[in-house]
Amino acid sequence: MRVIAIAIVAENGVLGDGQAQPFEFAEDWARYKRVTSGHPMVMGRATHEAIGRWLPGRTTIVVTRSPEQVELPVEGSSAVGLTAGSVEEALRLAADLDDEIYVAGGGQIYAQAWPYLTDLDLTEVHASAEGSVVLPEIDPAEWREIRREPRGAFDFAGYTRRTPPLALPRAVPDGRPMPDLPREQGPPDEASP
Ligand SMILES: NC(=O)c1ccc[n+]([C@@H]2O[C@H](COP(=O)([O-])OP(=O)(O)OC[C@H]3O[C@@H](n4cnc5c(N)ncnc54)[C@H](OP(=O)(O)O)[C@@H]3O)[C@@H](O)[C@H]2O)c1
Repeated sequence: MRVIAIAIVAENGVLGDGQAQPFEFAEDWARYKRVTSGHPMVMGRATHEAIGRWLPGRTTIVVTRSPEQVELPVEGSSAVGLTAGSVEEALRLAADLDDEIYVAGGGQIYAQAWPYLTDLDLTEVHASAEGSVVLPEIDPAEWREIRREPRGAFDFAGYTRRTPPLALPRAVPDGRPMPDLPREQGPPDEASP
């Protein structure tokens, strides 16, 4: 089971300002799409709204305390959308769909998912950015770098956790039954990310 945080991060740890992310590179979006397609993604409601649409070819689980305010994808689209009332519930739902799941932010969700993560898949930009949303610190005692691909303005970097992560809870915290899960996903379309 791999629980992977995927993010693009400034050298000062900044991920965004609460509305948008500070950097966009076509090569990074293309890789993001290639890596995450076919796998469930967990993201916070703010990040879902910042993206502005359901990502095709993936099941996205949006963490929110107000699920009634999240408009689900239209029938027949290749995007599948669900909501969850906590990060743990979202991770459990995702883990029931696949053994490779992606945590896509933002800051609140990375922080709460951090103990459950097995891997970090980062695009590390060689510049600082302004913003209050940051990635938790990557403690070298906890994380081992396993991959680094320099790309000029940024590196693609991978880390794996040195010691086992916290086990995912088996059921949602308040004991509610798990919702029915969609099992089928269509192929991704050509739109990015
Ligand atoms: N650089 C990157 O790779 C990257 C990736 C993703 C996002 N971002 C950036 O990060 C920023 C957004 O991050 P953010 O930290 O402000 O917001 P976020 O983590 O995307 O979402 C926060 C929302 O998630 C829900 N939530 C959080 N914890 C919850 C819990 N325990 N139970 C139920 N719901 C919970 C709440 O939604 P409700 O208010 O609906 O209850 C909360 O308002 C944006 O600037 C975005 O562009 C950057």
